[in-house]
Amino acid sequence: MTQKDWFTDWFNTPYYFILYKNRNDEDAQLFMKNITEFLALPKSTHILDLPCGKGRHSVFLNSLGYKVTGGDLAANSIKIAKEFENDSLNFKVHDMRKPFNNKYDAVFNLFTSFGYFEDDNEDLLILQNIKNGIKNNGYFVFDFLNADYVKATLVPKETKVVDDITFHITREIKDGFILKNISFFADNEQHSYTERVKYLDVNKMKTYFEKVGFTITNIFGDYHLNDFDSQTSNRLILVAK
Ligand SMILES: C[S@@+](CC[C@H](N)C(=O)[O-])C[C@H]1O[C@@H](n2cnc3c(N)ncnc32)[C@H](O)[C@@H]1O
Repeated sequence: MTQKDWFTDWFNTPYYFILYKNRNDEDAQLFMKNITEFLALPKSTHILDLPCGKGRHSVFLNSLGYKVTGGDLAANSIKIAKEFENDSLNFKVHDMRKPFNNKYDAVFNLFTSFGYFEDDNEDLLILQNIKNGIKNNGYFVFDFLNADYVKATLVPKETKVVDDITFHITREIKDGFILKNISFFADNEQHSYTERVKYLDVNKMKTYFEKVGFTITNIFGDYHLNDFDSQTSNRLILVAK
């Protein structure tokens, strides 16, 4: 596996789902409720949730009355998400480095689903694809980690036991990336994966957004939509047009 492709591999394994099975869906739903109310999105809005994983935000947004399309590179996640499909909720395998066929009223990129690539041009390509996929006056909601907060609160070593698997986790910041190594023994084998997310702080993201022609309208620091503070906010949430 090349370093570049860690996301293709890890996000498709059953162990990824096990490690993160207790992910906080309440937070995700609170955020979706707050942001859709803040933007006053009419129910006719067609939202693209990219990447959607197993569809936890998409399903909730759809329950609020929105038409939702979810896209993700991981075929295993899309297979699970498809079980929730209905007339106004669809999922498909999609690589966000590729352009879309459709245009949407809003695109949501949620829960640190960006910054996986070495080359800044690939980050820009994704943002450009998203921009091209949004209708005039549509919205882009970008929910990323707050790199400065991650740095200040980094837990270098941790052990987590989930479903009888002991995950040994180490974290470090190196060469402009936030690295999380996950090692464990399961199914008679030793496994090791490293999540690599680029150290993209608010200023770097502002530069990216400017380069592709997005206008940032709001910057929030958590799912309650409090103002962003680089020292104390746990998220970096950008809303752009
Ligand atoms: C941290 S997860 C978040 C998923 C979802 N937004 C959520 O909150 O549950 C990141 C997702 O990005 C997807 N992904 C990684 N690279 C991708 C790419 N190039 N195109 C589309 N999806 C990608 C992974 O498969 C994974 O589901």
